[in-house]
Order: sequence, then structure tokens, then C-alpha cells
Amino acid sequence: MKYRTLGKTGLKVSEIGIGTWQLADDLNCWVGADLKESLQSLYRYAELGGNFIDSAWIYGYSDTDDRHRSHELIAQFLKESGLRDKLVIASKVPPKNMQWPAFKNMPISEIFPDDWIVKCVDDSLRSLGIETLDLMQFHVWQDDFTDEDGWKETIRKLTAAGKVRHWGISANDYQPSNCFRAIETGLISSIQFILNIFHQRPAEKLLPFAAKHNIGLIARVPLDEGGLTGKFTVDTRFAVGDFRRHYFSPDRLKELIARTDNLKTLLNGEAGSLVELSLRYLLSLPEVSSAIPGMRRISHVESNNAVSDGRLLSDRLMSELKKHAWERNFNTSPLHTSTLPWSRNPFCLSQTARSSPASPCELTCSNFCF
Ligand SMILES: NC(=O)c1ccc[n+]([C@@H]2O[C@H](COP(=O)([O-])OP(=O)(O)OC[C@H]3O[C@@H](n4cnc5c(N)ncnc54)[C@H](OP(=O)(O)O)[C@@H]3O)[C@@H](O)[C@H]2O)c1
Repeated sequence: MKYRTLGKTGLKVSEIGIGTWQLADDLNCWVGADLKESLQSLYRYAELGGNFIDSAWIYGYSDTDDRHRSHELIAQFLKESGLRDKLVIASKVPPKNMQWPAFKNMPISEIFPDDWIVKCVDDSLRSLGIETLDLMQFHVWQDDFTDEDGWKETIRKLTAAGKVRHWGISANDYQPSNCFRAIETGLISSIQFILNIFHQRPAEKLLPFAAKHNIGLIARVPLDEGGLTGKFTVDTRFAVGDFRRHYFSPDRLKELIARTDNLKTLLNGEAGSLVELSLRYLLSLPEVSSAIPGMRRISHVESNNAVSDGRLLSDRLMSELKKHAWERNFNTSPLHTSTLPWSRNPFCLSQTARSSPASPCELTCSNFCF
């Protein structure tokens, strides 16, 4: 495993981080985790040199018992392994209104009021069983928030109290530049954003911006939610409640397969599988600090961690991959932004979908991504 510096935090993070959205069996997003294997995956990840764990207050959260199950699994691993001091632990403060993304003109008082930020930091420390978060990220952002002073004061206080070492923004899907003004405050040290072979657009503007400001870059959804693994077929179906049931609807799945079949023709000595090609693509970009595939299986940890061996893709292949970009921008379709912003509310989904899995709410919740 190789390590890179996470921008001005100075933290050394492994090139492959572990995304933990799917770690707990979350019936509203990622169905089917085997909690025992999730825990073992954390052990194997660390054993193979991984040191960067990305989680969030909302991952595996249940409103019925107020538990944060992704955090809890990480807490169990940290306690049993005694590895806390060797790891970099990141989490995220969710928007108080539970809507992803944050829409323009929404007041910050509905999304990140000061007492909410404090509460989510305290909840996270408690459920993770740690005293300090290495990185706390805002789980949505609108750059208008930069004009407000409350959050700035709050994060300064939480840092001074020793509860959080560094702050980051996990940018809204497909809006990686919608945090540039916040970066200029000097309070934000990292940006988490979608970057993969299909969604290459951030490479144009964000990568040079981050290099100029010494900002750590955390590339999320590196495998396009599994689409870039090449393991799906036109017959693949996902469980009720799994968001991929909609993300990979039959039409999208058909187009995905055609595109991954094209990508497979590029496999050669540089990368032997689509997973390897996808992760090597990200690690071949020097501005990326860490790529964080979601990993809840030991076999995935083993193959993904193995990609961090210092071998970069050739310029020829990197330039060939540009032709395979597939910009979809699912999440900012007019349907979602103008008429149904509430549809991305996990509580809306959890409560309605539980009683009626084929409810309009579930059907329109096709695009939420935490
Ligand atoms: N707004 C935000 O802040 C936000 C949004 C999304 C994600 N994230 C973070 O980014 C992380 C990564 O994104 P993601 O998990 O959504 O998408 P992803 O990493 O593109 O896809 C993860 C899925 O790919 C499959 N996979 C992983 N490694 C594999 C391998 N070697 N072979 C075959 N399949 C493999 C797994 O599917 P199965 O487990 O089903 O087998 C896994 O659940 C998340 O866990 C989370 O920490 C943050």
C-alpha cells in the first residue's frame, strides 16, 4: 500500500481508503451486508496497509432506535484491534433537513445550524468510541453558506476543544466546484467528490484548483456503485430497498453493459480487470489523495488494496480512457431539483418504503447518494 498526503491536513492516507456506506445492513440504501464479514473486512483492510476509513453519521442510521450502525462496526473494530492511533477516521455531518443535496437558497439554519453541527460531532465521537475525529466533512454543501459566520465559529470551537482535527466538504453529487468559496476561508482542508472513469469532468477544474490550494481530494464512488466492476449483466436485479435497484434500472443497465464491454477491450498488461483499471485510473491522477471504494467483502478489500503498488497507467491509456466518459448527472434532473427535493430524504424513503415498497416515494428516490 502506498500513502499520499491529504492536502494541508498533513495526514498520510493510504491511496485506497475504505468507504463504509454499505458496511451495515442498511435496508434503505445498501441491502445485504453480512455484518460479520463487514467487520472482518475492516481487519483485512488494515492488515493490508489501509489506514483511511470514510464513514458518516447517516450510514446505517436508524431513526427508530437512533443508532449509527456503520460507526458502531468501526467502533467495535477500533476497540478490539487497538489500532485507533494508526488510522485516519473521517465522518460527515448530515444536513439537518435530511435532504441530499443542499439546494440553492435553502437557509443554512435548516441545514447546518450551529447546535446541529455540535450534536452530530458528539454523536459521531460517541458511536465511533473515539475522542477525536481526524476529519469531519459537511455531507452536503451550497457555497452561499460561505457568507454565514455561524458554522465557521462552531467549527473553530470544536477544533479548539480537540473534538475534530480537520474539516472537509463532501460535495453534492456532480457539483464538485460548489465549495470553492468555502475553501478560500482556509477552514476546509479536503473535498470529497465523485470521480471515476465515467464521471471524469471534475478532472478539468477541481484537480488544478485543489493542487493550487493544497486541498486533499477524496475520490468517492470510484467504481460507479459497482457498475465499473463489470460484474453486472442485463439480468442483474437488486433487492427492494437497495438504491441500486433504481440507479441501475433496466434501461441504464443495458447501456452500462455496452459501455463496460467497450472498456473491457482496453484490458491488457496495464490492468487485468475493470476494477483494477478503474482504481488505477484514479491513482494515476497525482492530485487524488485517496480513492475510497465501498468495501464490505474481504475479497474486495484484497483486490482493491492490491492496486496501490505505485504502478501508474500510461499516458496513452489515460488519454484513451477519456473517450469512455459517460456523464449522466442523474441527481440534478429537473424532476429531482424542482418538484421532488423531498424524495432524497432518507426518512421519507425509510418510512414510506417500509410500508409499501412500490410506493411513489420509493420509485422516485432513484438518485439519492450519501
Ligand atoms: N455524498 C457522499 O458523501 C457520498 C456518496 C456516496 C459514497 N460516499 C462514500 O464513498 C464510498 C464509495 O462509494 P460507493 O460505495 O457508493 O460506490 P463504489 O465504491 O463505486 O461501489 C461500491 C460497491 O462496488 C462493489 N465492489 C467494491 N469493490 C469491488 C471489487 N473488488 N469487485 C467487485 N465489486 C466490488 C461492492 O458491491 P457489493 O458490496 O454489493 O458487492 C461495493 O459495495 C462510500 O462507501 C462512502 O464512504 C460518500
